[in-house]
Amino acid sequence: MPAVEVRPGIYWAGVNDRTSDLFEGFWPVAREGVSHNSYLIDDEKKALIDITSESLLESLLSQIATVTDPAGLDYIVINHMEPDHTGALRALRRLAPRATLLGSKKAVEMMESYYGVTEGVRAVEDGETLSLGRNTLQFFSTPFVHWPETIMTYAQEQKVLFSCDGFGGYGALQGSIFADEYADLRFYEEEALRYYTNIVALFGKQVLKAIDRLKDLPVEVVAPSHGLVWRRNPGRIIELYRTWAGYATGPVEPGVTVVFGTMYGNTRAMAEAVAAGVAGAGLPVTLFDAARVHPSYILPAIYSRQGVVIGSATYEGGLFPPVRNLLSLVESKRIVGRTAAFFGSRGWGGGARREFARQAETLQWEVVDAWEMQGGPTTKDLQEGEEFGHRFAAGLRR
Ligand SMILES: Cc1cc2nc3c(=O)[nH]c(=O)nc-3n(C[C@H](O)[C@H](O)[C@H](O)COP(=O)(O)O)c2cc1C
Ligand SMILES: [Fe+2]
Ligand SMILES: [Fe+2]
Repeated sequence: MPAVEVRPGIYWAGVNDRTSDLFEGFWPVAREGVSHNSYLIDDEKKALIDITSESLLESLLSQIATVTDPAGLDYIVINHMEPDHTGALRALRRLAPRATLLGSKKAVEMMESYYGVTEGVRAVEDGETLSLGRNTLQFFSTPFVHWPETIMTYAQEQKVLFSCDGFGGYGALQGSIFADEYADLRFYEEEALRYYTNIVALFGKQVLKAIDRLKDLPVEVVAPSHGLVWRRNPGRIIELYRTWAGYATGPVEPGVTVVFGTMYGNTRAMAEAVAAGVAGAGLPVTLFDAARVHPSYILPAIYSRQGVVIGSATYEGGLFPPVRNLLSLVESKRIVGRTAAFFGSRGWGGGARREFARQAETLQWEVVDAWEMQGGPTTKDLQEGEEFGHRFAAGLRR
């Protein structure tokens, strides 16, 4: 896809990454892809907003070249130092030796610690402006959206907010960079939530602070560094982020996530029964096999719904490892305050249930029910499992 004009003289010069399997070396994006959006402002002074990862430099350069000679860049704005936006910094530097690198004071320190770059670098203050000619850039400090050094850049005359990770999402762009050119945004909104829970969720408070900080800006285009550019309805993605950030502390959606971990299927059979009980009570329910579905896809469900039912076979005196791994991620994302229940299967002394109880306490999850069987389920066990699910869901509705 060649560079695309977002507003007169402002171009998307992004790279659609469809070949990386993992984002941040951990989160799967092989199927969905992810875009690294850079933006080019072709004015009296030429500025590039955000770079790209090391391996995508060639693609970025050819994008820039469709508008202007990369060697002639005057400024490179580094909103955020994470290497998905700066991996190509040193190489681009060599190709654009005149360009001044701009970033927060912390970003400037990081340019040295990550890349040994100290020359031709300038720190910008919160609120500072920079004229490029027809366009004026203004820089806003938005710490921890996503790293401590992160800023957002606003093009004042054309009312474009370059928000970097904020308001971003997974999902390579399919034909258009603009949200308003898609008939159906479900894929991108789901991928934005997955991205939010995987990458940003720990920083909900800072997301709300950033939204508040920007509230008086008449933003007409939200141009993040991953995912769609929001032009017709820029408020949509800001509202989604505000809602999701609110889930960290406030009420979340009704509904139940059932996650199970099983070696031989006993716990799975019980999970099916529990899910049937929840569905019978009229609440939405989603069922995940913790060993087969990457936590990346389970976190959004746990994050956005009030009810969590964890099923785990006992494995060597504790939780089945994929379940433990998921819960430890839930802990590091601080998804606290959910209503929970446990079920499982043990062969002899058990242990999964005890470990879950400890983990739930750390998470400040209220455990309203726990149920365990020895070995495989009888018909009566399955019936009890269904009642357990029904009871749990009915309790949530009250
Ligand atoms: C590798 C392995 C380790 C196990 N460790 C324990 C254990 O420490 N304590 C226990 O009560 N049962 C243990 N069990 C027995 C299982 O918890 C039991 O077979 C259970 O029914 C398995 O449920 P599933 O079919 O959902 O995998 C273990 C089983 C396996 C295969
Ligand atoms: Fe980031
Ligand atoms: Fe990023």
